[in-house]
Amino acid sequence: MTLPPELPPLPANARMRQLGATDLAAITAFEARANPDAWSSVLLETALIDSDQVVWGLSVDGELGAVAIVAWLPFDAELQSISVSPNYRRQGLAAGVLAALKAQAAAHGSERMLLEVRAANHAAQALYRRCGFEVDGRRRGYYRREDGSGEDAVLMSCDLTQ
Ligand SMILES: CC(C)(COP(=O)(O)OP(=O)(O)OC[C@H]1O[C@@H](n2cnc3c(N)ncnc32)[C@H](O)[C@@H]1OP(=O)(O)O)[C@@H](O)C(=O)NCCC(=O)NCCS
Repeated sequence: MTLPPELPPLPANARMRQLGATDLAAITAFEARANPDAWSSVLLETALIDSDQVVWGLSVDGELGAVAIVAWLPFDAELQSISVSPNYRRQGLAAGVLAALKAQAAAHGSERMLLEVRAANHAAQALYRRCGFEVDGRRRGYYRREDGSGEDAVLMSCDLTQ
């Protein structure tokens, strides 16, 4: 088996921190420009105050470059969203954030990290495979397209116990 090339570490000028209620306006604006499936301000506000969810932000030189949301389930952690600012893509930010989230979830006691992703989102699926996630199955027609038709969700997970 050919191993994928090593992912580069996060840049030295990048800082990751848990975001809070005072960050709501910044995250809402970030989501609107970085995520085609942007979370609404109401959903983000709920995530920021919910003790079973953690909203992470990665700043590069003080500017918000990536946002990720993780939910704690009884035995697993669920990656609910990850998005990187268009001007910082393909620089390893998402991979670096995922590595940190996996380490944090393992330390929290989670056995797996789960996620679901649109079948047409090939960039995100490539990212997840590169970061050690495997496909578990599909949920038919899970996402609703603008024309009313359904799009499959690809279910992926990563073992955190090894
Ligand atoms: C998907 C997304 C988070 C990737 O962020 P990123 O910081 O650009 O990803 P990275 O630079 O860490 O990429 C790591 C690896 O993932 C894969 N990858 C990432 N983006 C890719 C793309 N557009 N096409 C193919 N592979 C890609 C590559 O293997 C890449 O390694 P490489 O650059 O050495 O080839 C970003 O494109 C994004 O924010 N998209 C919009 C929101 C979204 O779709 N989120 C996921 C669903 S919630």
